[in-house]
Amino acid sequence: MKQTIKLHDKFFNYYLGKEKIDLAIQSLVQQVHDDLGDEIPVFIGILNGSFMFVADFIREYPSDCEVTFVKLASYEGTKSTGVVNELVGLSEDLTDRTVVILEDIIDTGNTLVKIYEIFDKLPIKQLRLATLFFKPEVFKKALPIDYIGISIPDRFIVGYGLDYDGLGRNLKDIYELKTNRMKNIVLFGPPGAGKGTQANILKDTYKLIHISTGDIFRDNIKNNTELGIIAKRFMDKGDLVPDSITIEMLKDVVNKHRTAKGFIFDGFPRTTSQAEALDKFLAEKGEQINGMVALEVPQDLLVARILERGKTSGRPDDQKEKKIRNRFNEYHTKTEILKDYYQAQNKYFGINGVGTIEEITQRLKEVFDKF
Ligand code: IMP
Ligand code: MG
Repeated sequence: MKQTIKLHDKFFNYYLGKEKIDLAIQSLVQQVHDDLGDEIPVFIGILNGSFMFVADFIREYPSDCEVTFVKLASYEGTKSTGVVNELVGLSEDLTDRTVVILEDIIDTGNTLVKIYEIFDKLPIKQLRLATLFFKPEVFKKALPIDYIGISIPDRFIVGYGLDYDGLGRNLKDIYELKTNRMKNIVLFGPPGAGKGTQANILKDTYKLIHISTGDIFRDNIKNNTELGIIAKRFMDKGDLVPDSITIEMLKDVVNKHRTAKGFIFDGFPRTTSQAEALDKFLAEKGEQINGMVALEVPQDLLVARILERGKTSGRPDDQKEKKIRNRFNEYHTKTEILKDYYQAQNKYFGINGVGTIEEITQRLKEVFDKF
């Protein structure tokens, strides 16, 4: 089962599975059967959306029944009369029969109004209506719905017969339209520029998840994990941990936060290939990087800041000027290329990183607010 799918131009996230649908159908069948007893009902599915529901419903139905389908055709009328609905395909004689309409989904209830209008005119014995999905927040009609399978919030869903512009009906599970796009920001800047400090403030302001690859590696090193042991070999020398390791680790973290409003990537990506991998990974989720926000600080000021931090941070790579210089070299030779990468997509935002923490936060917020 896929977490995110794309239909036409839109992305949909997994919402609920076939098991839930099966349970709802079993319960619907039981309620209908309890009410109708020995009666032989005519089940009428409203096409197209209800075909799967009807198929599964009548397979569960424990006694004799008939089934047929109709289609509600909408005709664009003249400007004054608007939309007219009419039933297509009903050839059975329903005189004195118990009719149970099977609907896939009831949203505003406009379709339901038409259904009642049409069936109220027929000489049937009784009319019942069952719907698999129902949106109580949207439904505003004073009409009875006798049986409701699953109530859902006001979301647009696809799958199990339901479509988005023709697609998605064949999905076994239900997916919901993805609406709120994430704010995904790459916080960028040379070592000591204040990325961590600012990320900590901004993640609270914007309710984002802060992913510092450096912190994750350091945690792993501290806990002596397999990843930590590998990462330590590189980090102690002031080298970058290889892309493949970093990317896999980052994907794990992102995937753990399924409902996040977005991420602040701090210390990642550091190479063009990491940036490409990140773009690809986010695109599969229907997401993207909104921008790279870079703190620009002169190098001499940075060396002084890092040496100061090294007195308290306990980070071995903070304490020796030679190692610090090596990190700058890495930064300049490999990482700064990323500026070009994001600039080419019009996603580079340079921020003056000299000033008080508050001043710099303020400058960053001005950019974050635009995303
Ligand atoms: P109504 O608003 O209750 O009249 O629903 C009209 C029709 O819109 C339904 O029969 C469905 O065909 C379609 N519809 C409403 N909500 C959804 C949804 O979430 N996904 C797919 N189709 C929907
Ligand atoms: Mg329908």
